[in-house]
Amino acid sequence: MPQTAPAGKLAIMAALPKELEGLTQAMGPTVTIQTIAMRDFYLGEIAGQPCVVVLSRIGKVAAATTTTILIERFGVTGVIFAGLAGGIHPSVGIGDIVVASSLVQHDLDARPLFPRYEVPLLGRSHFAPDAALSQLLQEHSEGYLAALCASDATIAAGPRRPQAHRGAIATGDIFVSDAGAGADIHGRLPDVLCVEMEGAAMAQVCYESGIPYAVMRVISDHADPGAKEHFADFLEHRAGRYTCGVLARLMESRATQLAPL
Ligand code: ADE
Repeated sequence: MPQTAPAGKLAIMAALPKELEGLTQAMGPTVTIQTIAMRDFYLGEIAGQPCVVVLSRIGKVAAATTTTILIERFGVTGVIFAGLAGGIHPSVGIGDIVVASSLVQHDLDARPLFPRYEVPLLGRSHFAPDAALSQLLQEHSEGYLAALCASDATIAAGPRRPQAHRGAIATGDIFVSDAGAGADIHGRLPDVLCVEMEGAAMAQVCYESGIPYAVMRVISDHADPGAKEHFADFLEHRAGRYTCGVLARLMESRATQLAPL
């Protein structure tokens, strides 16, 4: 049976301004900005759908704090995290999109008190995103990448067509770029497609509050010694195009897919 994405006020979050470039402009002149805990929360509508857009800054604490404010102060009914990630699985390449099927903290280790990766006293290590919201992200990621290939001859003629994947994402307070570090995480968590620094923290806060959530990540680098340069280049030239391309499509589709508020 098809599932329905959560209705109501959706939050869209990213770590860095370039990762959401264009989306706050899409909110138009009616947007209002509220500053809490050194973060600007943009309140308004995209494609007629109520939303809150915010930059969390980088890392698990930043993401958890921002998510808590979104839920407690703004009453959001769903959260999407969008941004870049480093690919660690051989199936993903730069320019691919990964929509999370599960999220885990690769740097969480309270052994011998609790099993590796398990969030102490919560009894779980992996968090499952909302199926309907993730399906929407997947569909619009595929649609965006198809449109990108149709309109950008350089990408279409490149060595490999960008792909949309659904798979596990691992989060940690580490920008993974040391030689062997990505391979080490791949060895420990072989299902994980990519690493980033916020998703599982946002997921834990949403899980604890019963709020649906989803994560989309565009692969900017291979979490190896070239990661810094690849990440910086992707962030500067391509990040906003991808994330806003997918999210603008998703917000437009919500207008037709959701039950009336
Ligand atoms: N986000 C993008 N690339 C990353 C990397 N290599 N490690 C952690 N987060 C990232």
